[in-house]
Amino acid sequence: MRDIHCHILPGIDDGARDLVMSLEMLRAARESGVTSIVCTPHVRDMFFDYKAAWKAFDLLSANVNGFPLQMGFEVNHRKLMELGINEWAEKLKFSGSEEFLLEFSSNADRHDYHEYEKTIYKLQNKGLKVIIAHPERYRAVQEDIKVASKLVRMGCKLQVSADFISGGRMGSSKEPARRLFKEGLVSHLSSDAHNPKHYKYLSKAREKYNTRGRHAQLRDFVFSC
Ligand SMILES: [Fe+2]
Repeated sequence: MRDIHCHILPGIDDGARDLVMSLEMLRAARESGVTSIVCTPHVRDMFFDYKAAWKAFDLLSANVNGFPLQMGFEVNHRKLMELGINEWAEKLKFSGSEEFLLEFSSNADRHDYHEYEKTIYKLQNKGLKVIIAHPERYRAVQEDIKVASKLVRMGCKLQVSADFISGGRMGSSKEPARRLFKEGLVSHLSSDAHNPKHYKYLSKAREKYNTRGRHAQLRDFVFSC
């Protein structure tokens, strides 16, 4: 399984503090069944340093004995607007693929979603495949699942973060995530790990939403990535 959302790069954002912690995260990832990782540091005000992120990626790559890693970013929409789509979109996609992980504001309203849609079309016009990070945390999706369906109809993939299984970082993403799975809207279940313990959530979520029980029918598309 490829984990497409993970804060494993050493010393770059609020994820791994240093290389030792990155390697602990990698061990936990492997134990939970992950076979490749896209490293996706935050692109938002507090953390964004493009050159330093690539340097950290090179450092990690040199220490993983060939474990498959891709570089990527978790791109906050507001920061992308500030940086400029034309200049930055290509630089912030995943390395080796056209995927682009886009994060919205949790409390965004319908007006904001109008802006998000425009951005998605601009990215798609550049040939990028837009993946929406953790829609289960977004108030607009929590209030109306049709917001998520529309994103899928627009050609986006939805990525659910495994910590929903314990309520999620905002404490209210469990039911919205379940609903997204139930409606068949989820393409990627990812760790969004900031430390080794977060991989426990991925194991738990996979067990429930991949191998058995009433969600077993979701297996094929959730782990098609
Ligand atoms: Fe994240």
